[in-house]
Amino acid sequence: MNGIKIIGSGSAVPDHVVTNDDLAQIVDTSDAWISERTGIRTRHFIQADENASDLAILSAKRAVETAGIAPEQIGAVVVATITGDTTSPSTANRVALALGVEPNTPSFDISAACSGFVYALKVAQGMIADESRRPYAVVVGVEALSRDLDFTDRSTCILFGDGAGAVVVKSEPDAAFDAVLGAESDPAIGVPGDINKTEFITMDGRRVFRFAVRIMPKIIQDYLAKTGETLDDYDQVIFHQANTRIIEHASKKLGLTPDKVYENLDHYGNTSGASIPLALDEMVQMGRIKKGCRILCVGFGAGLTWGAAGITYTGPEH
Ligand code: UT7
Repeated sequence: MNGIKIIGSGSAVPDHVVTNDDLAQIVDTSDAWISERTGIRTRHFIQADENASDLAILSAKRAVETAGIAPEQIGAVVVATITGDTTSPSTANRVALALGVEPNTPSFDISAACSGFVYALKVAQGMIADESRRPYAVVVGVEALSRDLDFTDRSTCILFGDGAGAVVVKSEPDAAFDAVLGAESDPAIGVPGDINKTEFITMDGRRVFRFAVRIMPKIIQDYLAKTGETLDDYDQVIFHQANTRIIEHASKKLGLTPDKVYENLDHYGNTSGASIPLALDEMVQMGRIKKGCRILCVGFGAGLTWGAAGITYTGPEH
């Protein structure tokens, strides 16, 4: 099957910034506790008149613009989210409409929480593999998690933020792309459904922490065993941004140096399915990801789910 490569990226976050001190006004916590235990200092929250689809559409439009492609060239729209506005129309349906893709273009959401973007890359590869006329897919990770936070629970409400990241991928025979994905049914993280909020995000933090530090290095080892590569074949590793201590633990175990591991938790918090593409676009914008850069995306989260995907950023073709 053809592989895929990234030719454009975009991102979007709500304007409203919430600091640790702001949260300390609401729950019994402190800036010192949150920043020391998680690495988070600020996060962005949607306001009453904003939805996940607004962020998804903005990030997708930016990705398509930087890719320099026309809507008629898009063969699929795949959105990873657990906090879409409604189950149907899906967030991807809304993004496809806003982009103006042709009517016979598949668009749908993927529910794999913080691993969602990695899953979506793998699915997008298959969706456009036989598309010679429209070999491009828009892949978005978006969350409006603040909508589902319990602001009486200090162990969860301090962790999450809202945002979106998007990429345009192109299907090509020679594009080096691979992925390993996994899942098990485990309620360690509970996420409510649809916009009619009936319950909140719940989490056994310590249990998830232990799972994360075990699974992150293992996914990478499984991925490298599958592709026959080493970490030297990758310029940047983008971990799901959940907790700086988890990222540091995984990096140490794998012998990764800081120049290969990006973190933006301090200003976005944990944005679940959006965290990897949000970081990716930020890295492109700051020149840390350049043309030809090999990127390893590594996610874990609710489900429980996990996955790693290796892909090349080539930038726009013209
Ligand atoms: O993307 C989804 C995946 N989710 C994750 O990756 C989350 C993984 N887990 C974590 O990141 C960490 O477990 C947390 C950040 C959630 C918690 O950190 P921890 O170091 O594991 O703390 P803890 O749960 O062991 O709690 C230690 C203490 C407790 O007090 P006692 O029982 O020792 O008196 C908590 O009640 O810290 C207390 N605590 C807080 N204190 C101040 C918990 N949350 C807070 C808070 N402010 N916000």
